[in-house]
Amino acid sequence: MNTLDAIRNRRSIRRYRKGIDIPAEDIKTMLEAAMLAPSARNCRPWEFTVIKNRDIMGKIMDISPYTKMMETASLAIVVCGRPEGKDGQNNDFWQQDCGAAIENLLLAALELGYGTCWCGLYPSGDRYKLMQELIDTDAIPMAVIAVGEADEKPERRGFYDETKVRWI
Ligand SMILES: Cc1cc2nc3c(=O)[nH]c(=O)nc-3n(C[C@H](O)[C@H](O)[C@H](O)COP(=O)(O)O)c2cc1C
Repeated sequence: MNTLDAIRNRRSIRRYRKGIDIPAEDIKTMLEAAMLAPSARNCRPWEFTVIKNRDIMGKIMDISPYTKMMETASLAIVVCGRPEGKDGQNNDFWQQDCGAAIENLLLAALELGYGTCWCGLYPSGDRYKLMQELIDTDAIPMAVIAVGEADEKPERRGFYDETKVRWI
């Protein structure tokens, strides 16, 4: 699959085939793709927590009502960011950096044959704080990504909206 095909075909998947075990090698490839994303001053402010434990995945659904697809997903990946850079300077772009990493992860997952759904945590309500407690981190949980083999095939969207574009 070339990059443009992947971008055009990607959809959020909210129903997965149950009981599929995703090999560690595939998970690492998704994380490698995430870590290859561009980031401001090359801060790479991201951290990833891979969750396969069904009890913990159940608790994710308690934290955010919009993560019900975790019921069938094979695993969840929590993407956290750190606004403070290692050099003592703050990285005001950490959210953009993490967003780029997440999109890379979604596209790599598609290439490997998996569906995904990006579920936002930060800065919505106290969701990210509850997730911090759940996974025991002081980094900021920005999103949790459901990953699994798709059990639905939403049509590709394929819209190009000329009204969103200005040419100067
Ligand atoms: C920042 C962000 C947060 C999102 N949060 C959720 C969520 O909590 N639950 C969910 O089912 N989908 C979530 N989505 C997925 C969007 O609903 C989805 O991307 C959008 O409807 C477009 O559909 P598509 O991904 O199939 O193209 C989120 C997407 C983004 C980028």
